[in-house]
Amino acid sequence: MSLAETKAAPSREIRKRPLVVMQSVSKVFSSGTIALSGMSLTVESGEFISLLGPSGCGKSTALRIIAGLGGATSGKIDWPSSRINSKGLPEGDIGFVFQEPTLMPWKTVFGNVFLPLKLRGVSKAEAKDRIMEVLATVGLQDFADAYPRELSGGMKMRVSIARALVTNPKLLLMDEPFAALDEITRQKLNDDVLRLWKTTGITVIFVTHSVFESAYLSNRIVVMKARPGRVHADFPLTTSLERDSHYRTSEEYRLACETASRSLIEAIGGAEEH
Ligand SMILES: Nc1ncnc2c1ncn2[C@@H]1O[C@H](COP(=O)(O)OP(=O)(O)O)[C@@H](O)[C@H]1O
Ligand SMILES: [Mg+2]
Repeated sequence: MSLAETKAAPSREIRKRPLVVMQSVSKVFSSGTIALSGMSLTVESGEFISLLGPSGCGKSTALRIIAGLGGATSGKIDWPSSRINSKGLPEGDIGFVFQEPTLMPWKTVFGNVFLPLKLRGVSKAEAKDRIMEVLATVGLQDFADAYPRELSGGMKMRVSIARALVTNPKLLLMDEPFAALDEITRQKLNDDVLRLWKTTGITVIFVTHSVFESAYLSNRIVVMKARPGRVHADFPLTTSLERDSHYRTSEEYRLACETASRSLIEAIGGAEEH
């Protein structure tokens, strides 16, 4: 039985309403590298999509273009259900979590999470309740006054997630956020992100090169291929099981990993060398 045939409800309702549409997006850097070529992807509101692919296949480039952090050479990004601001980005915000937590070492946890609100002209007093609320969501309510150097790698990443969520974005973009963490911390953070996804209704695009992580987290996996970067495969991943420690040892999870792994191997096998 293939995954697509697995008859089961997703763990959370996905509305069939496109949030963001990448239309034949290409990106050529000035060095001549074709990072993306004709990449198209429709992301529905409420999805949890993993972008899975080998290093150098354009995952970060795709995410940055969606976030408006880098322009496309050709093609376009549409936001069908959002009002667009003067920068061509959707109102309601995008949260971005990078592989490194990128915290300001001279600011406390509170100060780091305050930054996006401060940039929007919100005063510290006005921001306080929201900051404490979002810190509680990531389990750091008791660490508001701590400095980044006092935190573990996993806690720093939680601060980075809290900072991305503080403005209540509709879309959360995560670029290999847990790649540098140990396995147990990574699993804990995977569970935290899933809980956030279920409770907030946020749409997530999660970049990873880990088959296991993509199969654990997503309701859809988009496998990318390198040189030039493009979509190799795009498949849904539904399960009736809660994504928890039981799911990790289930036959459904094993099947999901196998499907994703096979697709990734095909994608890598088809890539040409430089
Ligand atoms: N700023 C840049 N200038 C030139 N080439 C770049 C730049 N950023 C990425 N690239 C190249 O574009 C390709 C895709 O990179 P990237 O999107 O970072 O891939 P991934 O995130 O999948 O590892 C790679 O060949 C990379 O070397
Ligand atoms: Mg990358």
